[in-house]
Amino acid sequence: MNVLSHLNGATALVTGANGFIGSHLVDQLLASGCEVHGLVRERSDLKWLDGSKVVLHRVDLAQSDFVIPGLEKLDYIFHCAGLTRAKSRAGYFQVNATACSNLYEQCRQRGSRIKGIVHLSSLAATGPSPQGSLVDEITPCRPVTFYGQSKLAGEEIALQYSQSLPVTVIRPPVVYGPREENFFTFIKLIGKGWGLQIGRAGKELSLIYVSDLVQAMLTASHPIKQEGRSYFVTDGCVHSWEQVAKECARIMNVRIKTLKIPEGMLTPVALFFEVLARVSSRPALFDRQRMIDIRQSSWSASAEHFFKGFDFEPQYELSRGMAETISWYQQNKWL
Ligand SMILES: NC(=O)c1ccc[n+]([C@@H]2O[C@H](COP(=O)([O-])OP(=O)(O)OC[C@H]3O[C@@H](n4cnc5c(N)ncnc54)[C@H](OP(=O)(O)O)[C@@H]3O)[C@@H](O)[C@H]2O)c1
Repeated sequence: MNVLSHLNGATALVTGANGFIGSHLVDQLLASGCEVHGLVRERSDLKWLDGSKVVLHRVDLAQSDFVIPGLEKLDYIFHCAGLTRAKSRAGYFQVNATACSNLYEQCRQRGSRIKGIVHLSSLAATGPSPQGSLVDEITPCRPVTFYGQSKLAGEEIALQYSQSLPVTVIRPPVVYGPREENFFTFIKLIGKGWGLQIGRAGKELSLIYVSDLVQAMLTASHPIKQEGRSYFVTDGCVHSWEQVAKECARIMNVRIKTLKIPEGMLTPVALFFEVLARVSSRPALFDRQRMIDIRQSSWSASAEHFFKGFDFEPQYELSRGMAETISWYQQNKWL
């Protein structure tokens, strides 16, 4: 039986439809036979949706009185919209938490057909793991950044609504793949022959290739699987940054020199970007919140509960996912 057959002929809404993860999800939902509605902002960049058959709705989730159109006709909702960079704690909370209350309250009142909601949270909601061990779903949540705190608040709201709505929360670690722009900076540096080591060596992380995350989200939307719980989804491995760098260098056939930067050296850089951000409409590219992330020894999670509960096996190990990603960057002249 096709585990995604529930999506054929269904109507689904993707929030953050034009974003990195949202746009890949849109592609897969369309391929699964869904009528896809996408929630985007007035000024969202729609380049990844160009030519797709998604029906767009312009809604800014930061507005306190936003209304989701056509909720009455929706079978599935994939809540991918989120702020990964903001100028203040309040900025993160407004979109990643407060908007969830409004969204799910409208679902409760008007979403009589909804069979499944997948809420995209993050490993950041739980926080880092002690070096050499993994966090899982029973690890107490101790987010260390404003972003992580706001993602935790968002998933708590989603789970409160699980009394009346069929919600599953997915917590990915770092997601990589075609169209992604942050991890890309790391890959681009390697392509130029430079590896970066910030602080001590051997820092660890979990990863997931975007196609596997999308498959996991589609699988988690199945109506009979909705239990009002949070799950980590990863590629099943723990990586060190050095291994990831080596793998990228091998794929691009480059030799790398490692540039070692003491963590303390980055504080003035973060402060500089924060001052710039004060006079700009955009949040800082790099700030002291980002430094808190970088300082941690390990961002690693176990996805065993998801793998067992949903009979799910990721299809992309690092070498395959990274090869596809780098090939996409090369074909699209990013590298
Ligand atoms: N990428 C990762 O490694 C990763 C890891 C863990 C969790 N996540 C979570 O995955 C989700 C998607 O992340 P992503 O990597 O795809 O990021 P992304 O490319 O930045 O996409 C974020 C999406 O959210 C939308 N959005 C932001 N503020 C909004 C608002 N006020 N109203 C309506 N839409 C708004 C953005 O619209 P605009 O284009 O108009 O800004 C964009 O479509 C986020 O919730 C993030 O927390 C991502």
